[in-house]
Amino acid sequence: LRVGLLFGGCSGEHEVSITSARAIAKALSSGQNTSKYEILPFYIQKDGHWLAGDTPQQVLASGKPLSLPNSETASSQSLSRWEFPPQVGEVDVWFPILHGPNGEDGTVQGLLTLMQVPFVGSGVLGSALGMDKIAMKMVFAQAGLPQVKYKAVNRSQIWSNPCVFPKLCDDIELTLGYPCFIKPANLGSSVGIAKVRSRQELEAALDNAASYDRRIIVEAAVVARELECAVLGNDQPKASVVGEITYKSEFYDYETKYTEGKADLVIPAAVPNAVTQQIQEMALQAFAAVDAAGLARVDFFYVEATGEVLINEINTLPGFTATSMYPLLWQHSGVSFPELVDQLIQLAVA
Ligand code: ADP
Ligand code: DAL
Ligand code: MG
Repeated sequence: LRVGLLFGGCSGEHEVSITSARAIAKALSSGQNTSKYEILPFYIQKDGHWLAGDTPQQVLASGKPLSLPNSETASSQSLSRWEFPPQVGEVDVWFPILHGPNGEDGTVQGLLTLMQVPFVGSGVLGSALGMDKIAMKMVFAQAGLPQVKYKAVNRSQIWSNPCVFPKLCDDIELTLGYPCFIKPANLGSSVGIAKVRSRQELEAALDNAASYDRRIIVEAAVVARELECAVLGNDQPKASVVGEITYKSEFYDYETKYTEGKADLVIPAAVPNAVTQQIQEMALQAFAAVDAAGLARVDFFYVEATGEVLINEINTLPGFTATSMYPLLWQHSGVSFPELVDQLIQLAVA
């Protein structure tokens, strides 16, 4: 099978995608996978331009993004933004490993669906619901999954009307209180997220979040341990062992996520069996609730003081580097990295 490894992308998580793709490419060229799969890498530049052939190979080899403008490469391939390299037609199955907007949100999944070529991971609906934190929370609530108190906000309430904004802030103070988290609804890797403790911080964080997204979510902060569970499968998915993220920073922000040594992954998490079981059940419920497929990592808050488990979010294209939680959770559940990649492709073509 010719596997179209699609990576890079127009999102703040472009670099993470390259690292994930490198690990997947390595797994596809190891052991039994070598005889089963041929890799066709496709690199989506930060401006949305698709490249095939040597350039993606170079990006995979170096692990570094191409700097823009890359007019030389672009013109040598004589592509306009809306054309795709001819190698697209040679792909038997796609493995999109794009994180965040324009890749994890259903847009690329829509394109691949129209191409009528199978692909790894969730379809349009699962991806879109998994990306938008407001839509995700509405679906989780409908499925009866416990979560933090939250409020959905639209950019127009922040920017357009000077009378509305103070009322919005009053309402947040009254219903959620401090500290609370302000998040753009459609980003990942903690980009644009702030934890605020005062009116002044709240106003600044809402204004900042509005510069990233029309849709914003405000959440009551919980004091909790962060536990994650990996899901693998289509209609009969399985849940992995549960892992914990520990760190010293204020919260699991971008720097903590991507600076070596700032966060530790503990697998399996040292929590009571009943908590592990509850998380595994909730992870499968969340997977079904958004109509995910193939893979997802479901993230939780465990409020140790009360024993409560709250769902935080589902990630339909979780970080997939050699040191990422998703593949490590499967490794500790008896599925090696190359086996995992093989199973995901087989689930896509099934
Ligand atoms: P992303 O999709 O960018 O990962 P998250 O919603 O997972 O965004 O938030 C990133 C991090 O911020 C979490 O891992 C956690 O450390 C912290 N956080 C987010 N929401 C809350 C909350 N309501 N209470 C406490 N911590 C939170
Ligand atoms: N958005 C990052 C890649 C993750 O969830 O792992
Ligand atoms: Mg998260």
